[in-house]
Amino acid sequence: MKVVAVLGSPHADGPSNVIAKEVLRGAKEAGHDVVIYEINKMNVKGCQACGVCKKNYCDCIQNDDLKPYWKDLHEAGALVISAPNYCSQICGPMITYMNRHYCLVSNLPGKAPVRVHPGIKLIGVFSQGWDKADAYLDTYKWYLGDFQNRDMELQDILVHAGNMPYDEGSELMTRAYELGKNL
Ligand SMILES: Cc1cc2nc3c(=O)[nH]c(=O)nc-3n(C[C@H](O)[C@H](O)[C@H](O)COP(=O)(O)O)c2cc1C
Repeated sequence: MKVVAVLGSPHADGPSNVIAKEVLRGAKEAGHDVVIYEINKMNVKGCQACGVCKKNYCDCIQNDDLKPYWKDLHEAGALVISAPNYCSQICGPMITYMNRHYCLVSNLPGKAPVRVHPGIKLIGVFSQGWDKADAYLDTYKWYLGDFQNRDMELQDILVHAGNMPYDEGSELMTRAYELGKNL
């Protein structure tokens, strides 16, 4: 199956990227194909509220670096999303990315209300400076909820908080690998 990952941090070696990539290592070991989008390196515009997706029951028509993503998502069996926490929220570029999924819901009569196949397995990986691991859990759940509203099935949320270790053999990395392996 295809596993699509969207990584939000500008830190290549920061915890959110490293832990998400450990999920992907597990997924590859399980035989899955992995496609990675690194939002910080991409030109991704916000939703233009043009309404084309709503009128035409289609994916977002914007010609930016998310263009190939929609096909990958329609083919995906799993979506792995990672982001750092900025100002008590998901970092800005990942909110912008999330907003673009507006195109996947519809209220056209006679059409399915969600335009992507149901059951895409969803994993969220977040990192925050505050060592209170559950401090922002509601925020992470709210964010992933937008994907669950598109009939995706949440598997787990991994939170790296404060100085939690994320080196090889650490609890977080073991959980991450197992999550990927069991997709
Ligand atoms: C602009 C900015 C705002 C931040 N705001 C918060 C915050 O409100 N709460 C928090 O716990 N950590 C905050 N942090 C810390 C990051 O969430 C933390 O360093 C995280 O581990 C970064 O993950 P990454 O290296 O995977 O990107 C902030 C960092 C930056 C750069």
